[in-house]
Amino acid sequence: MKLEEVKITNASGIFSSSFSSLEDWINSGVDGVVLKTATYKPRKGYEFPNVAIDDDKILQAMGLPNPGYLDMSELAKSIKKEHPETFVIYSFASGDEEEIKEITSVLEKNCDALEFNISCPHAKGLGSSIGYDVHTLKNLCETVKENIDKPFGLKMPYYPTDELLGEVVNATEVVDFYTSINSVGKAMMIGEDFGISNKLGGLSGPAIKPLAVGQVYRLRKFTDKFIFGCGGIVNRRDVAEFLRAGANGVQLGSGVLRYKTKKEFVDEARKGFSFQLKNYFINQGVKEWE
Ligand SMILES: Cc1cc2nc3c(=O)[nH]c(=O)nc-3n(C[C@H](O)[C@H](O)[C@H](O)COP(=O)(O)O)c2cc1C
Repeated sequence: MKLEEVKITNASGIFSSSFSSLEDWINSGVDGVVLKTATYKPRKGYEFPNVAIDDDKILQAMGLPNPGYLDMSELAKSIKKEHPETFVIYSFASGDEEEIKEITSVLEKNCDALEFNISCPHAKGLGSSIGYDVHTLKNLCETVKENIDKPFGLKMPYYPTDELLGEVVNATEVVDFYTSINSVGKAMMIGEDFGISNKLGGLSGPAIKPLAVGQVYRLRKFTDKFIFGCGGIVNRRDVAEFLRAGANGVQLGSGVLRYKTKKEFVDEARKGFSFQLKNYFINQGVKEWE
């Protein structure tokens, strides 16, 4: 399968750390899977509680817990071996060129594509500190490209200005696809009976969907590369919105928590590819859509 044929995957970090949870996504009908973000060294992650849920808002600061890039690469390899027809996307985060060279050197045979997570909102020196530093990002993307022939994409943070978004797209012309967006950083929820140990975290769920759809729409104006829409998808209409805004495929995230099984969610999302949004916009008073 080629990247262009991939319509639905899970989002990184959403039941994507073990063979059985990835296989569960595959058996539920996704075209591809994205593994939990790997880092060079294993990371324990932050103390519990690290996730808080309040209606359509999901706040988390997991701290990128993972067993390190070598173990995650073995996981990618075993998934690819058992499910050769599935498009396997390996997600990694690093701010260091030497690390990236080593990480990419073990991946060539074990996955179909790479997703460079430049947007983890709360892991120091990783994630969004890279995503907002255009110069560093450019160098790191070029290092990835020099070391691997597979398609490679960026898991983007939310960019509040078009100037910054445009600069990022210009600086990352070597990438093959974009995934937009990761959870929106520096969010806080102060509940009577919930909260997270890190206090601040990344916001996911329907609360961020308008930002996510908006960014896909803005991003499409800068590039004709493949875009995965991600953020707040819970049903077919959400998928249709992302497609209308300019996405080619979607990644399913925390919306899975609303369904009894992953299959129910994937089946619902798949219907978004033939769902007609036209009347919806007209009913809402929007007469035209370019
Ligand atoms: C518990 C949890 C863990 C996550 N871990 C990762 C991760 O390891 N790598 C990554 O790129 N995104 C990670 N994300 C972000 C999701 O992939 C997704 O971009 C975000 O949740 C927005 O989509 P959603 O609103 O559909 O959940 C995580 C999100 C959650 C809720």
